[in-house]
Amino acid sequence: MESIKETRALSQIDADVLVVGIFQDEPLAETLKQLDPGLPDDFVTKVVDEAKSETFTGKSGQSLQMQTFNALRCRKLVLRGMGKTNDSTAIRKAAAAARRSSQNSETVSVDLRTAGDGSKMQAALEGWLLGGYKFTKYKTKDDDKKPSKTKSLHIVDRQLSDDQFKISNERATAIAEATNFARDLIAEPAAYMTPTRLAEAAQSLADSGIAVAILEREDADKLGMGSFLGVARGAVEPPKFIVMRYTHPAANKTVALAGKGITFDSGGLSIKTAQGMETMKYDMSGAAAVIATMKAMSQLKPTVNVIGVAAATENMPSATAMHPGDVLQAMNGKTIEVNNTDAEGRLVLADALCYLSKEKPDEIIDLATLTGAVVTALGRAAAGIMGNNEDLISRLSRSGEAAGERYWQLPMFDDYKEALKSDIADLKNAGARGEAGTVAAAMFLQEFIDGCAWVHLDIAGPAWLDKEKDEQNKGGTAFGVRTLCYYLLEQ
Ligand code: BES
Ligand code: ZN
Ligand code: ZN
Repeated sequence: MESIKETRALSQIDADVLVVGIFQDEPLAETLKQLDPGLPDDFVTKVVDEAKSETFTGKSGQSLQMQTFNALRCRKLVLRGMGKTNDSTAIRKAAAAARRSSQNSETVSVDLRTAGDGSKMQAALEGWLLGGYKFTKYKTKDDDKKPSKTKSLHIVDRQLSDDQFKISNERATAIAEATNFARDLIAEPAAYMTPTRLAEAAQSLADSGIAVAILEREDADKLGMGSFLGVARGAVEPPKFIVMRYTHPAANKTVALAGKGITFDSGGLSIKTAQGMETMKYDMSGAAAVIATMKAMSQLKPTVNVIGVAAATENMPSATAMHPGDVLQAMNGKTIEVNNTDAEGRLVLADALCYLSKEKPDEIIDLATLTGAVVTALGRAAAGIMGNNEDLISRLSRSGEAAGERYWQLPMFDDYKEALKSDIADLKNAGARGEAGTVAAAMFLQEFIDGCAWVHLDIAGPAWLDKEKDEQNKGGTAFGVRTLCYYLLEQ
């Protein structure tokens, strides 16, 4: 999909469809005249009348479609409501909606009111590319597989310089393609997307300048990763501890990323209900986000070093599976009583965080579909954010905001540590059911950080949607990729 900057007046654009973003309650006639003084008056009047009779006010989600009957050179005009706030988030949403509604048009032109602002243009292009995502690998009917007819996007901005547009376009493309790459990894059934296949996906980045190393079971064992390997014990599929490195010669900072890569979470012997495990192929969303972010790094080339690790294994019940009550020892020597084998994410992350702490990075960010409790607390509209460094938490939240991904902080009061006390080991992996489960999990992770600045993102809610929403698709959304890319670009 090619995106081209369009600088002709609206009335001169000869696309099949022209989409124009309208903010809520802005005076329509004035706006249209401002966007193109050459628009015929009687056509503007027609549009305003039509908007009135259809109660189109520019509210987010609204759209109004009209034939142009040769008043303009384009065949169809669509007004797309962008809501009250003129910001990147509104523009990104409108762009995704425009993409979805113009699947049957070959040439599409859009004016999303980016007004010479490079970051708004980037958001528009991201929305367009993310809104076009589809996973059709397993569909066999031609109708279900057919790609959209749209050949290219002509995006209107008469103020933005060519150089700025190029940067916006390159960034949006790298970020959206990485996101869609992660969406594919998550969409794959667990029977296909095993730890081995996830490792292969990471390995594919080696061609684009990312150094990739895959630690096998024996390697992890030598490093003392008893916590990670405890989870892997019940699975026939071999675990993979994936390490990726992006280095920039002028970097003076290293950011470390860790992703939970449970390619299927059955709960293990503390087995889930049928309903509880139905979507558990998405329990590797954190790992997918880290792998995809590394892919984006090879294209965005920010001035920072990035180490990404993904701890990949299945969590299965079997005769060889860890038992509830077993004691594991993590890489930093701490012992863990596994009172619930379904709290496996924190077990694999424990060793991932130990591994990264040893590298002495400036910051560690982990992403994990870690708790059902965060879905109860925040639903799917935001991820939980916690950590030991308020500055890092707020900087990351702000990057998320700019990227269109929301975070909400939960408190890490010392009191919550109580829940993790074990009678026979240094700590246990699960606290009391129904009591601050998301924070308890974060308190557990903190035991493996070794004083490094650290942020934990519990993405269990927004990483999976039952219905598409704005630029986010139905199913695995690859939540976090955009936040990380925006954040790393700011370094
Ligand atoms: N992968 C789940 C968390 C999850 C639940 C993600 C629902 C997405 C949707 C995680 O491994 C888990 O099972 N956590 C337990 C922890 C509990 C046993 C302390 C949970 O949330 O119930
Ligand atoms: Zn689990
Ligand atoms: Zn899990």
